[in-house]
Amino acid sequence: MTLDVDRIRKDFPILGTEMRGRPLTYLDSGASAQKPKAVIDAMSDFYSARYANIHRGVYQLSADATRDYEAVRGKVARFIGAKDEREIVFVRNATEAINLVARTWGEVNVGEGDEIVLTWMEHHANIVPWQMLADRKGATIRVAEIDDDGVLDVHHLASLLGPRTKLLAVTHVSNALGTINPVAELVALAKEHGVTTLVDGAQAVPHQPVDVDAIGADFYAFSGHKVFGPSGAGVLHGRYPLLDAMPPFLGGGDMIEVVSFDGTTFAPVPQKFEAGTPDIASVIGFGAAIDYLDGIGMDAIAAYEHELLEYATAGLDTVPGLRIVGRAKEKAAVLSFVLEDAHPHDIGTCLDGEGVAIRAGHHCAQPLMQRVGVPATARASLAFYNTREDIDRLVDALVKTAELFS
Ligand code: ALA
Repeated sequence: MTLDVDRIRKDFPILGTEMRGRPLTYLDSGASAQKPKAVIDAMSDFYSARYANIHRGVYQLSADATRDYEAVRGKVARFIGAKDEREIVFVRNATEAINLVARTWGEVNVGEGDEIVLTWMEHHANIVPWQMLADRKGATIRVAEIDDDGVLDVHHLASLLGPRTKLLAVTHVSNALGTINPVAELVALAKEHGVTTLVDGAQAVPHQPVDVDAIGADFYAFSGHKVFGPSGAGVLHGRYPLLDAMPPFLGGGDMIEVVSFDGTTFAPVPQKFEAGTPDIASVIGFGAAIDYLDGIGMDAIAAYEHELLEYATAGLDTVPGLRIVGRAKEKAAVLSFVLEDAHPHDIGTCLDGEGVAIRAGHHCAQPLMQRVGVPATARASLAFYNTREDIDRLVDALVKTAELFS
């Protein structure tokens, strides 16, 4: 163990609380991560003492708020290895980032007969916007295969790339299986065919070092609330020349240069994509989350979580009738499973009775559920604040649940 997890847990107020008379065992960080006090305090301080709208006021408070907000853009750029902070666009979440690309880049670059390549393990956020675009344009969606362990078939994906392919949109880490995809390799393959690439990094950025420059994708999307920041702040990273050439997404204040009834000119990137007052306090809180993670180190986090994944996998394998869904060798700390005769929602309810919070359902990945042949799974998703004791409580609760349903 390389992290002082006892000390880390004290930074997260909610982890000291109880649920149904037992210590809260929070194993749903894939849905949304808990927040350290540093994040909560940063937002509270901002609202208490430093709040004003940004990019507008001539007074000191607004200038300071603008400086603090813009400083987070630089922090995010450094955190994900972006060379130019103008390539960081603040949005609400990964879903909005992907929709932004579909509605702007997609609108001008995808036409009738074109193809968009996805994989079977995509989250709905990386399927539905492309389906909507394909319907508007008369384009086609092609889907790369995965095997029974949940590993992407790279050869099949490569065979789908051709002269009609306009976009490859792929997840970095599967939210439902934990599979880590070789995104740099996939982006390189796509580039050979002149195909634009988008990577959904929502489940990667919280758990491993991410270097968007090394990955080389044209677009990389993620959400702040999964990165231990508040909800309401997310990121689209886009390569500058593409962002510059794209039409705006939402129109309104702050994204313009000059407006008249004869026409409007737009602000430069990234302001062109940030219409209206953003979630300023969430961006400030997001900055505090990045500082907090920098203080621990993403390499140390990834190594610790990997160790915890191995411990949890071995533990779950001892539960009678339990089957883990997703056994890729390159895997993040996500454990999806089914239990003979018990519906995942019943598993979730039984575990809740023991103070163990997991997610149950289709995980916004219905095509993937069809592919792996189950309507739903139960899912424990870990973070660096989880411990072996959390896993032991999960396993004990599952053994009790298995007995109940046997
Ligand atoms: N995408 C989130 C999850 O996997 C909500 O739970």
